[in-house]
Amino acid sequence: MTIKPFDFYRTPKLVFGPGRVRELGPIAASYGSEVLVITGGDSLDRTGTWKRCEESLKKASLKIHRYGFKGEPSPEIVDSAVKEFAPRSLNAIVGVGGGSVMDCAKAVAAMLPLGEPVTAYLEGVGTKTHSGKTLPFIAVPTTAGTGSEATKNAVISKVGRQGFKKSLRHDNFTPVSAIVDPELTLPCPAQVTAACGMDAFTQLLESYVSPQASPVTDALALSGIELMAPALIPASTDQGGDIGLRSSLAYAAFLSGITLANAGLGIIHGLASPIGGLFPIPHGVVCATLVGEACRMNIKRLRELRSPDDIMLVKYATVGRMISGADHPDLLASCDLLLNRLDQWTEELSIPRLGHYGVAESDLDALAAQAGQKGNPIQLDLNDIRAILRSRL
Ligand SMILES: [Fe+2]
Repeated sequence: MTIKPFDFYRTPKLVFGPGRVRELGPIAASYGSEVLVITGGDSLDRTGTWKRCEESLKKASLKIHRYGFKGEPSPEIVDSAVKEFAPRSLNAIVGVGGGSVMDCAKAVAAMLPLGEPVTAYLEGVGTKTHSGKTLPFIAVPTTAGTGSEATKNAVISKVGRQGFKKSLRHDNFTPVSAIVDPELTLPCPAQVTAACGMDAFTQLLESYVSPQASPVTDALALSGIELMAPALIPASTDQGGDIGLRSSLAYAAFLSGITLANAGLGIIHGLASPIGGLFPIPHGVVCATLVGEACRMNIKRLRELRSPDDIMLVKYATVGRMISGADHPDLLASCDLLLNRLDQWTEELSIPRLGHYGVAESDLDALAAQAGQKGNPIQLDLNDIRAILRSRL
């Protein structure tokens, strides 16, 4: 087999394992004496995570500033942090929280040296190109989901009729370090664990079947899928306190960030952006609710339009065998194993439908028209995309 030419981008230094959040202080101190820590709502204080971070930073004699925000990072939230902290002599930015916090902290680190509104630099919204000058950003995720702790883009959101979810992106924006401590994900509620886990799984699967996949991203995607598949349901239901399961999900989420940054994503994430811009649906829920039906459509079109042993069908079949634990020799039957297992996960995790958040039949044309599918294994037409959405209304 000939290996196609490919690029593989820089990854953060990964500090992985239970309890390793205690290393935050020394890592941050290696960049200087003053840090800004960006956090989400008050859950960090309730769970004791903030206390652990603060202790480690204080022990390293750091001057600490904290900026907290709620919800998803809007341009206003990023701009207000930049305005407030621009006069400080900050040496590093630390983000402690879920995917939204990672994205906000990454954007603040990137916009502080410029001191300008972020909107001007967002893909598809602004017209300016970022120089790549950024403060060092240390990611400390408390959920296992978006993989933002490993990526070079920050998703900035504006929800509403003129809403968008667009990226601030540069190769230099990848965090310098990611402290992936599965203990920090232990307090994550079951429903959030489920949605985040399904997001990470979708990212691994979509990058695995992307036309831009490489042997490196394939190896990483399969490693992530293999570990997370048996952990997803128990960690998201009655065994959320099991550190081994939490470790598998945290590991898979980190890998999903690397694979998506290098191989791209398909129709599910191509729909997640416009849906998330127009409706207040958590990103993980959009992915979770669409992944089964989108795979069903992709596999259907691959069967109709490609050879029976097409590499994308082989890949779907490989994942089907892996996550079902069955060793079926037939390719198409193995693809069905994947679809059946995804249906089962959707059911067991009680993943809400799009209609639950207000998406209606009358929205489908606009959503389908805005869907990106650059990394999808096969090009779908608008009818196909509408059918995926309709099946989850
Ligand atoms: Fe995602």
